[in-house]
Amino acid sequence: MKKLLSILLTCAITVSGVAQTTNAKMDGFIKQLLSKMTLDEKIGQLNLQGGWDDANESSKAAYMQKVKSGEIGGSFNIPNPEKNARALQDIAMQSRLKIPVLVGGDVVQGYKTIFPIPLAETMSWDIEGMQRSTAITANEASSQGIAWTFAPMIDISRDPRWGRVSEGVGEDPYLGSLIAAARVKGFQGTDYLKNQNMMACMKHFAMYGAPEAGKDYTGMDMSKRIMYDVYLKTYKAAVDAGVGSVMSSFNDVQGVPSSGNKWLLTDLLRKQWGFKGMVISDYTSIEEMKNHGVAATDAEAAALSMNAGMDMDMISEFFQKNLKQLVQSGKVNEKELDRAAYNVLAAKYKLGLFENPYRYSDTQRAAKDILSEEHLQHALKIAQESIVLLKNNNHLLPLKQTGTVALIGPFAKTEDVQNIGATNASRSPNIYEELTSQLKGKATVLYAKGANISENDMLMERIYQQKDVRSAEALKEEAINIAKQADVIIAVMGEHGGMTGEAASMADIQLQENQRDLLMELKKLNKPIVLVVKNGRPLIIDWENENMDAIIDCWYLGTKEAEAVVNTLLGKFNPSGKLTMTFPRNAGQIPVYYAHNNSSRPEQDGNKYTSKYLDVSSTPLFPFGYGLSYTSFEYSAITLSATTLDSKGKITASVTVKNNGTYDGDEIVQLYIQDVVGSIKRPVKELKGFKKISLKTGASQTVTFTITEEMLRFYNNELQFKSEPGKFNVFIGTDSNTKNVAEFELK
Ligand code: NOJ
Repeated sequence: MKKLLSILLTCAITVSGVAQTTNAKMDGFIKQLLSKMTLDEKIGQLNLQGGWDDANESSKAAYMQKVKSGEIGGSFNIPNPEKNARALQDIAMQSRLKIPVLVGGDVVQGYKTIFPIPLAETMSWDIEGMQRSTAITANEASSQGIAWTFAPMIDISRDPRWGRVSEGVGEDPYLGSLIAAARVKGFQGTDYLKNQNMMACMKHFAMYGAPEAGKDYTGMDMSKRIMYDVYLKTYKAAVDAGVGSVMSSFNDVQGVPSSGNKWLLTDLLRKQWGFKGMVISDYTSIEEMKNHGVAATDAEAAALSMNAGMDMDMISEFFQKNLKQLVQSGKVNEKELDRAAYNVLAAKYKLGLFENPYRYSDTQRAAKDILSEEHLQHALKIAQESIVLLKNNNHLLPLKQTGTVALIGPFAKTEDVQNIGATNASRSPNIYEELTSQLKGKATVLYAKGANISENDMLMERIYQQKDVRSAEALKEEAINIAKQADVIIAVMGEHGGMTGEAASMADIQLQENQRDLLMELKKLNKPIVLVVKNGRPLIIDWENENMDAIIDCWYLGTKEAEAVVNTLLGKFNPSGKLTMTFPRNAGQIPVYYAHNNSSRPEQDGNKYTSKYLDVSSTPLFPFGYGLSYTSFEYSAITLSATTLDSKGKITASVTVKNNGTYDGDEIVQLYIQDVVGSIKRPVKELKGFKKISLKTGASQTVTFTITEEMLRFYNNELQFKSEPGKFNVFIGTDSNTKNVAEFELK
């Protein structure tokens, strides 16, 4: 034992010794470089610019000239990175100090092998799987010159009207933190220099997921306690996982825009959390501080941001145009400038760019790895796991593979796969092609579009979509005639990709009226209908839930979307996804999330003066953690190893889960805890653990969770992270609505 301990200790010392040597070496290198740099050259390093128009020679030449004269330190979303990243480094090598360019991009849900949108992937609760997706993304992008990604986006959000929920980690900070850390580790690996990794950038720091009324680019006012207890947790997890860079958000935090917020960028991020990497602004957010009304001039905005702790200015060129003057006039201390330049150069050093600026352009590796069979297999696996079965009356699914199927809807035969920031995504089969091919020789597939994406002209114009040349009536009529010939109808409906993501907030998140009208007409045919929902956010589908026989939510699943959806419809895959965002019944309920606080008058049937709406139920349509399977699972009551817990001890909580249905299946067993009486109000329950298990039909498994005092801590009003003695409820079940409960006391 002693010997083992001494070996472990020696290892620890050696490893940290190496890290220290690298840091000392890097420190020496950068300080020496900084001492040779002019003020202009240092400022140039802080300038982060987007691409150029590749078809326009003079636009490219002007850009390259800036790189040559040291006016651009980083480039992102450049055209054709496979050739232009190398061209950029060629030019950088002609600059006076030969400092390589940091080439980045919004490589969010894959590079050429495209995975589900980030929110969809969270529905898998497959933490390792999500890490693997970002590792593959890094592998592909880093072979084509991109060393840095503006991902993961880890903003907690509880408002599905906000278009960017599609990029995030859902509503829960516990699950969101695990995902944030996993995605960072996937992108970055353990060592950037293994060449197959890239630097991650967590965004958008901070609280960007809480815009008022779900409208993008608006602010919010929030107590520090809620920030710490809910919204900051994912960012902290990413910092703890070693994220290399941070992007500030467009919003303000307690009145101070993030890009000029010293509390956020310096006191919290660097001093409290010990972050050592680089901070960049989101796009023109430094410039936008003038719109926020906290800076009167360009120079004031630049000074505010630099003094708050910003290192790189994306797009606005406010650092480029104002910093020299600001330093010379003493409004910005040169030390701040040196700090920022140091952080940018350190990122380049850590990525090995000084050693070899072409490190990330490897055509041989690209040819071998990009869209490799192994990558595509993972894309299929995680796409399938991301699908959520919301309803399945009378076991309509999986479908019988005989007779005639009518495939209807604006997304049944579309090539529009929502790919956030994905460059050159490859063409994949659509659902119609995949279904036809999988049912060949067994069943007939008929198709009709049936409806436009929407009949709302303003919406269509804003998402750059055209209506069909045929009239809405003609589209509908064709679909009804097709459906009449079928034994079963599959309707593929929902949102176009342009309706989610940045600047895509929606006030009405029901299915578009014309799509719902078509469903109403189809319903009149009295045939079984499966609704396949394509969406980037929880949608209000209460009518559909009442009237459709089966519903699967398939989001936007990337390269392997059609195969994943068809495999699920036909039972080659048994769905296991669980919602990571609550589905409201009505937009008036928003924000609706499972971990809400106790009410002073909890809803009671028949008692008017209790917390409720008169016109709709208060309960969500589908709660957090919800998702069905083709099989069914039975949970035993909870067994606790003890009913008291002391601060250093632990207790276990176990349930036995049995697959009592007729299919093998996976189940995500969820643990929630409620602090019954606190010094301040506490949520009705909070997710504290989960396990994904596979059970053959008829099999059972006992699932055990360990509960410790640490899991019971929360931020109080003094921002202390502490637990409080007293009674706790522990819930274990299939979703956040579970009533399977036991209690224990913390001494
Ligand atoms: C603005 C978006 O908010 C951010 O997420 C993205 O990384 C940048 N644009 C760069 O494209």
